[in-house]
Amino acid sequence: MKIAIIGTGNLGKSIANGLLEANVVKPTNLSLTKRHLKTLSNFKEKGVHITSDNKQAIKDKEIVFLCVQPHKLQEVLTDIKNDLSEKLVISTITGITLKELKKALPENVVLFRAMPNTAIAIKESMTCIATENASVTEKEKVKQLFSVLGETLFIDDELMGAATVLGASGIAFAMRFVRASMQAGIEIGFESEDAQKIAAQTIKGAVSLLLKNNSHPESEIDKVTTPLGITITGLNKMEQAGFSSSLTQGIKASYDKIKNVT
Ligand SMILES: NC(=O)c1ccc[n+]([C@@H]2O[C@H](COP(=O)([O-])OP(=O)(O)OC[C@H]3O[C@@H](n4cnc5c(N)ncnc54)[C@H](OP(=O)(O)O)[C@@H]3O)[C@@H](O)[C@H]2O)c1
Repeated sequence: MKIAIIGTGNLGKSIANGLLEANVVKPTNLSLTKRHLKTLSNFKEKGVHITSDNKQAIKDKEIVFLCVQPHKLQEVLTDIKNDLSEKLVISTITGITLKELKKALPENVVLFRAMPNTAIAIKESMTCIATENASVTEKEKVKQLFSVLGETLFIDDELMGAATVLGASGIAFAMRFVRASMQAGIEIGFESEDAQKIAAQTIKGAVSLLLKNNSHPESEIDKVTTPLGITITGLNKMEQAGFSSSLTQGIKASYDKIKNVT
């Protein structure tokens, strides 16, 4: 595959690293762009083509990632849109819908939108993908690209806002859960570092149980809670204090906000 990444910042670099490490693309078949190239010097050493010239980068490439910030998209498209004909374009840009992208691009572009999260840097992303005009083969190709960077799920473009909140903002929500557990851990006797290790690994274990057993959270909870027990006492106290309610309200508030700004 010949791939270009336009706007190689945090996300673009994670995608490039993942694709190179998984041998999905050869260094010489990968072009990375940004205006200030200093932060891409380690890619240059690997034989990757780095440039500030977006037009040059996409020449001869079949797949083009658009990874700039939303306010830079117009500027970038003015420069390259006429050279994108017949290419497969994957936009990771938050808040720009497939319909908006379609309007701004030539008719014959095969268009995808992808919403990863920051765990893409360690190849543990949950990446939601949408397309309206790709073939089954093209969808499979894009799924393969993101599969080396974590899990993937195809969704309707209308659900991208919801995917952004649940999947991308979800990283922050999960971190707050870890931090709160740590704070409690310190109060009941652990040093901060130990509390973080216990809280983080316990949450990792809990999530692995769900993913490996393909089970429902409540069935895993049943295995830990005994009648008159310690765990159920804590769980019920958390619920009385609004644990599930505050999480669902927070996710809903983020979703309302994303609907108002996009
Ligand atoms: N980070 C994530 O995990 C994540 C997850 C989901 C979606 N997203 C979305 O993905 C996009 C990128 O996110 P990010 O976190 O990687 O942002 P970022 O770190 O700011 O990267 C964007 C890069 O674009 C470059 N750039 C700006 N103007 C350019 C131009 N005219 N031509 C070529 N490159 C240009 C910038 O470098 P120079 O200033 O050197 O040009 C910058 O490094 C955003 O739209 C974001 O909403 C990110």
